[in-house]
Amino acid sequence: MGLVNANIERMAGYTPGEQPEKLSVIKLNTNENPYPPSPRVLTAIASVTAERLRRYPSPDARAFRMVAAKVHGVDPDWIMATNGGDELLSIVFRACLAPGDRVAFLDPGYSLYPVLATLQNAQAVTLNYQVRDTDWNLPPEIFTVDARLLLLVNPNAPSGTLIGMSTLVQILRSFRGVVLVDEAYVDFAPASALPLVKSFENLVILRSMSKGYGLAGLRFGYAIAQKPLLIELNKVRDSYPCDIVAITAASAALEDQEYARSIWGRVIEHRTQLTEALVAMGFSVPPSFSNFVLAAVPAGASAAQLYARLKARDILVRYFALPGLEDKLRITVGTRAENQSLIRAIGEILSADSKNLHGVT
Ligand SMILES: Cc1ncc(COP(=O)(O)O)c(C=O)c1O
Repeated sequence: MGLVNANIERMAGYTPGEQPEKLSVIKLNTNENPYPPSPRVLTAIASVTAERLRRYPSPDARAFRMVAAKVHGVDPDWIMATNGGDELLSIVFRACLAPGDRVAFLDPGYSLYPVLATLQNAQAVTLNYQVRDTDWNLPPEIFTVDARLLLLVNPNAPSGTLIGMSTLVQILRSFRGVVLVDEAYVDFAPASALPLVKSFENLVILRSMSKGYGLAGLRFGYAIAQKPLLIELNKVRDSYPCDIVAITAASAALEDQEYARSIWGRVIEHRTQLTEALVAMGFSVPPSFSNFVLAAVPAGASAAQLYARLKARDILVRYFALPGLEDKLRITVGTRAENQSLIRAIGEILSADSKNLHGVT
C-alpha cells in the first residue's frame, strides 16, 4: 500500500500555466490583467504595521467583507473571503461531495474541476459544449442533470462565451444541488448572476481579485451566497485563509471601483481590436466576454507549433493538447503594445510558413 490514498497516487495533479521568472516575457497565458492594481493598493500595503503583522488577522476578513457587502449591495454575512477563488472551489467540493457523489461541469471548462473531483473521490459528470464553428451551445442535459454540485464558468474559460441570464435562471430552477457560478472573469462581461443570489438558496457565486483587479500575485477571492449556505461553507475553510496584507490590499482594490472600471474598459476595447486582427489573419474566434480570446488557427497551421514558436520569441500564450482544443490558442488580452507585438509575431511566423510551403526560401 502506498503512503497516500490510491486516488491521489493515480492522478496527475493540476498543471498551472507557466510562470516565467523573466519579467520581460510578453505573458498572455494565464489571464492576468495587463494593468497594475489601483494605486491605493500599494499605499494600503505600506500602511500595515508591525503590530498588525504580529497578531493573527481577522479569521473571516471582516474589513474586506464590509467593503464587498457595500459594493455588491448584500449583507456582509453573504460574503466569504478565501485565499483566491481556487480555495473557494476546494471548499465547495469538500463541503458538498462525499466519495462517489456526482459533480457536473461543462467541458471544455476550467481544468481544475476534474482534479478537485478526483481528490474528493467524487464522480465527475462531464457535459460537453456543442461547438459548431464559433458557436458554443449548451448541451440539453444541463437542464436535467442529476448531481450534488454543478459548476458553471461564466463567462466560460477557455471559450470566453457567456450563458445568458434567462438560461441561468432555467438551470437554477431545474437543478436540486448546489450551483456554483464561477465568475472569475465577470468584470469583463455585461451581466452577472449577482441579482439571482437573493432568489436561490443553492447558488454560490465565485469572484476573484486576480483578473479584474490586477491582483493575481496576492491570492484573494470570495463567495457571494445566502447566509445559511455560507455558514456551512465557513466550517470547511482554514482558520485564517487570508493574511492581513492581503485583506488590506484586496479591500483597497475593491473599494476603488472607479479605477477598476477604467481598466476593464481598456481591456474590453483591446479585446475587440485583438479579435479583429486575428480574424483578419484567418483565425476563427468566438465573441469573448472575458479578458482572453480562444482563437482557432487558420487552416493548414498548427496551434501547437505556433505556441512553441511564439514562446521562442518570448511571447507566452496557452495551448491545451485536449480534445476540441488542439487547433486553438487561448490568448490573454494584453496592453495595446503587447497585442501588437503578438499580432506582428504571428503574421511573421505564418507568412514564413506559407513561403516554406510554396518552396520560397
Ligand atoms: C475559471 C476560473 N475560476 C477560478 C479561477 C481562480 O482564480 P484565483 O484563484 O486566482 O482567484 C481561475 C483562475 O485562473 C479561473 O480561470
